[in-house]
Amino acid sequence: MATAKPPTPNQATPTHSNLVRLIAIVLLVLIVLVGLTILIIWLTIKPKKLVYSIDDGSINNYNLSDGNHLNSTYDFILRAYNPNKKVSVYYDKVDIEVLYDDETLSRGIIDPFHQPKRNATRFKLNLASHDVQLSDQIARDLKAERTSGRVEMTVKLKARIRFKVGVWKSRHYHMKVSCAPIMVHFSTSSRGFQRTMCDVDI
Ligand SMILES: *[C@@H]1O[C@H](CO)[C@@H](O)[C@H](O)[C@H]1NC(C)=O
Ligand SMILES: *[C@@H]1O[C@H](CO)[C@@H](O)[C@H](O)[C@H]1NC(C)=O
Ligand SMILES: *[C@@H]1O[C@H](CO)[C@@H](O)[C@H](O)[C@H]1NC(C)=O
Repeated sequence: MATAKPPTPNQATPTHSNLVRLIAIVLLVLIVLVGLTILIIWLTIKPKKLVYSIDDGSINNYNLSDGNHLNSTYDFILRAYNPNKKVSVYYDKVDIEVLYDDETLSRGIIDPFHQPKRNATRFKLNLASHDVQLSDQIARDLKAERTSGRVEMTVKLKARIRFKVGVWKSRHYHMKVSCAPIMVHFSTSSRGFQRTMCDVDI
């Protein structure tokens, strides 16, 4: 009885399989090279977080009427620090808000600017409340703090930023900065100001 031989595997021609192997090796090498390049670029750029702080602040021209209308001005020094050696930052839009107890007392903006690498810039923020109506509770709290000579405030920033590395510019990112609690003195009782670091969220 003749046993059927198992079918021999359908072998590709040697030249064909060599070509496939060559292409596979070239592809693999390319993938590894691209991966290494990205890793090296990342390591040289090493993006670091932007650092914000309120370095000085005071309340001036404070006047709270019996009907809880507030007139006041707020002077803050905001410090923006870009610690990156390879990355500069475009600030395309910056909104500022001054709050007391979650109630907005004043809004403002910072003009668009470009911050170079390893740069610290100080901004003088001159903000004001013009006849702002406060709730009874907030007005009562503010009066109590007024007698103590200082008030706990919050400064918030919302910004649209882009990063620049060499000639490459990133897409837009939303950045949220929150500085709290800031112990702000009334101008009449000017004592030392405690620098306040801010939370930065991109
Ligand atoms: C506060 O404003 C009211 C009304 O404008 C004024 O009569 C008063 O003198 C002001 N007080 C201070 C301390 O400036
Ligand atoms: C706030 O200023 C406005 C004018 O800018 C004035 O009419 C108002 O009386 C002031 N209020 C207080 C409490 O000073
Ligand atoms: C930071 O950048 C601003 C704007 O380009 C420039 O005016 C300022 O001199 C720089 N500050 C430092 C410490 O390099």
